[in-house]
Amino acid sequence: MKSNIALIGFMGTGKTSVGTLLAKKLGKSFVETDSIIERKTGRKITEIFRRDGEIRFRELEIEAVKEAAEKKNAVISCGGGAVMNQINVQRLRENSSIVLLAASPETILERTGKSGDRPLLEGKDKLGKIKQLLESRKNLYSVSDYTLDTSGMSAEKAAEKIIVMLNDSKNREK
Ligand code: S3P
Repeated sequence: MKSNIALIGFMGTGKTSVGTLLAKKLGKSFVETDSIIERKTGRKITEIFRRDGEIRFRELEIEAVKEAAEKKNAVISCGGGAVMNQINVQRLRENSSIVLLAASPETILERTGKSGDRPLLEGKDKLGKIKQLLESRKNLYSVSDYTLDTSGMSAEKAAEKIIVMLNDSKNREK
C-alpha cells in the first residue's frame, strides 16, 4: 500500500483545507508543493510568477514535487498545475495514491474570489478564465486513482469521504 496521498486538482477545489484535515485524521504529515517553493526561494508564488514567469515557476515546482513525492506517510497538496508536467505525475505515483479534487467553475470562483494570490486568474472575466483553464486541463487531471467533487461540501466531509474511498479500495484488494 502506498503511504502517501497526493491531492491534485484545480485551484479552489479544497486541496489545502481538505488535505490538512485528512493528514490530521490519518496521522500523516501535510506538505504543500507551493509552500516548499516559497520556503526554498524565500519568495511568494505571486512574486515568482510576476518577476520570473510561469516557466521558471514550473521548474521550481518540478523540484518541489520531487521533494514531496519522496516523503513517506504524507498528504501532499499539489499546486493546481503540477499535472502539466508528466514527470511530476510519474514521481507522485511511486509512493502516492492520487486523489483528484474537482469543483464546479462557480464554486471555484467563489473560493478563489477574494484572495489575490492566484496569478493565473488575475484580470477581468475570472469565471471565463476558470472555465477555459479547466477545459484545457481536463485530460491532465484524469490521471487520478480517485475523484471527489467537493462543490457544496465542507472540508470535513470531503476528508471523511476520501478516507472511505481509500478504505473501500484497500478492502477490495484483500
Ligand atoms: C496554479 C495553482 C496554484 C499555484 C500557482 C499555479 C495552477 O496552486 O501553484 O498559482 O497552475 O493551477 P493552488 O492550486 O494550490 O491554488
